[in-house]
Amino acid sequence: MSYNLLKGKRGIIFGALNEDSIAWEVAKKAHDEGARFVLTNAPIALRFGKIEDLGKLCDAEIIPADVTSIEDLEHLLIKSQEILGGKLDFILHSVGMSKNVVKKRDYTDLNYKDFIQAMDISAISLHKLLQSAKKLDAINEYGSVLTLSYIGAQRVFTTYGDMTQAKAMLESIVRSFGLHYGLDKKVRINSISQSPTKTTAGKGIKGFDSFFHFAGKMSPLGNATAADCADYCITLFSDLSRKVTMQNLYHDGGFSSTGISYEVLKHYRPDCECIKHDLRLE
Ligand SMILES: NC(=O)c1ccc[n+]([C@@H]2O[C@H](COP(=O)([O-])OP(=O)(O)OC[C@H]3O[C@@H](n4cnc5c(N)ncnc54)[C@H](O)[C@@H]3O)[C@@H](O)[C@H]2O)c1
Repeated sequence: MSYNLLKGKRGIIFGALNEDSIAWEVAKKAHDEGARFVLTNAPIALRFGKIEDLGKLCDAEIIPADVTSIEDLEHLLIKSQEILGGKLDFILHSVGMSKNVVKKRDYTDLNYKDFIQAMDISAISLHKLLQSAKKLDAINEYGSVLTLSYIGAQRVFTTYGDMTQAKAMLESIVRSFGLHYGLDKKVRINSISQSPTKTTAGKGIKGFDSFFHFAGKMSPLGNATAADCADYCITLFSDLSRKVTMQNLYHDGGFSSTGISYEVLKHYRPDCECIKHDLRLE
């Protein structure tokens, strides 16, 4: 169902690689809600991914940009405004990559070149994007910039590796830049802290299936899917959330507030009295 929540809005969507990508779902829903936007991804991802199919589906042009390159980002921002016919109203930064995680390196044996690259791609790129957008005055008042994070920023998950630091920095940039951009141009910046999701990036994490299963059992509403995440993104791009900024917003079916769930307790203590008496498990 469409509510026309983004009718007349212009944006840029980073990070749609294939049908599994969270950004892919966001693009489809933004299109359904009446937005016009440009799709972007790293030049290499354009060669190996399926973004062209999405472009056709959403009637969107595709501009390659490596998020670590300020030159690429400036070109993207200028060109997008030309194509769309004005300043932007929303940007989705749905980008992350760590070679240490991909190579499944132990946290106590990191390659530092790869660590720095992970910080650049997964966190500092948001600062580069925002700084470029602000200098070019590319975003309208009350425009909304969203990035995607994970609860690994607050708590340690064994195999999340150096992405833990990348997400912590990402969320910190959301707050710091949110203050400056909000004061100067009323632009809002938020991160969504999403459940484990079966995407290319997600599945690259060692033990992802167990993470995914555990999170599902811990969350009273179950894991949030990429499609659920897209719905939430649309509300945050829309005018219905005009005063929300500088926040890290959990979108995880309740995982972040749960100490232990009946489901998990049942797994460890099937004979526990409190389990037997909980009718919800019958
Ligand atoms: N999948 C999960 O479990 C999960 C959970 C919470 C948060 N997230 C976050 O969601 C975001 C999107 O990831 P996803 O799960 O949809 O996976 P995905 O693999 O589909 O998307 C990651 C994207 O980052 C892009 N990218 C990597 N390096 C780049 C560069 N140098 N320049 C431009 N783009 C680059 C990739 O091409 C890809 O499109 C990431 O920030 C990820 O950390 C994912």
